Amino acid sequence: MILVPLQEPEAARRNIRLLLLRDDLTHPELPGNKWRKLKYNLTEAQQLGHDTLLTFGGAFSNHIAAVAAAGRLTGLRTIGIIRGEETPPLNPTLARAAADGMTLRYLDRETYRRKQDPAFLAELLRETGPAYIIPEGGSNALALPGCAELVTELAAETTFDYLCVACGTGGTLAGLLTALAPHQQAVGIAALKNGGFLRTDVDALTQAATGHTFPNYDLRTDYHLGGYARFSLELLDFIHAFQTRHGVLLDPVYTGKLLFGVLDLLRQDYFAAGSTVVAVHTGGLQGWTGFRQRFGHRSAWWPEGV
Ligand SMILES: Cc1ncc(COP(=O)(O)O)c(C=O)c1O
Repeated sequence: MILVPLQEPEAARRNIRLLLLRDDLTHPELPGNKWRKLKYNLTEAQQLGHDTLLTFGGAFSNHIAAVAAAGRLTGLRTIGIIRGEETPPLNPTLARAAADGMTLRYLDRETYRRKQDPAFLAELLRETGPAYIIPEGGSNALALPGCAELVTELAAETTFDYLCVACGTGGTLAGLLTALAPHQQAVGIAALKNGGFLRTDVDALTQAATGHTFPNYDLRTDYHLGGYARFSLELLDFIHAFQTRHGVLLDPVYTGKLLFGVLDLLRQDYFAAGSTVVAVHTGGLQGWTGFRQRFGHRSAWWPEGV
């Protein structure tokens, strides 16, 4: 586990130890929360005798990329149900997924909303054949124990008071929560504009996985910077400056907002003076190529190699 101390004047002024947990480096092909969330799902799929994984995601989804890679690594077939119309040629995320062997199927946005409806899923499986279904973002009860392991590994390295993570579906935050000590606080930074649903979803996930919910977390829905996967020059400038200061590249959909939010919360004295704050780099760097393809004309700066 790599923990990078972030020398930020705002932290030093408050005697706060700010650490970046480089979970993006934990697994070479399933970075960050992807390996954490998939680990026990892959075991379960294999134990149940499945040879196919079926999952859901948007056209630039890190989760789709990760499931496709997991299929290549495990020998399981993969089917990706992609939200929206097919728009050839494939974008870099889907091209990579297809190269990893994933079969891509597209659903219009209206039908896609039924992605959790059991009747719809049964109908889908009749068309595709039997498969182990992993929900969008990989967030189900089995995603939680893998994420909980991050906390155990971290606690073996250092004491800490706050654990901050970016949220999409809330599965990662839910998993971290299940392993925190009661005096430790999780802070979720929502990447989506209308993140109000997250508390319900996080509570439902911890309830499903452990039989109860956890009070020691906060959700911040005010750092979406325009919404999910939207372009924000302010965010891009922040990511650029952060890379210049710390030599670490964040992603433009999740972890950029996480660090943007954490540093802003620091300035607002949200974290107790003298405490240790850990922010988790959950990966997502595969998203840069597609992001640049969509918004290349809107910024002069882009990270090297994307
Ligand atoms: C890089 C990255 N970080 C954070 C998240 C948020 O994870 P979750 O959907 O479990 O809230 C995601 C989405 O899966 C992601 O791809």
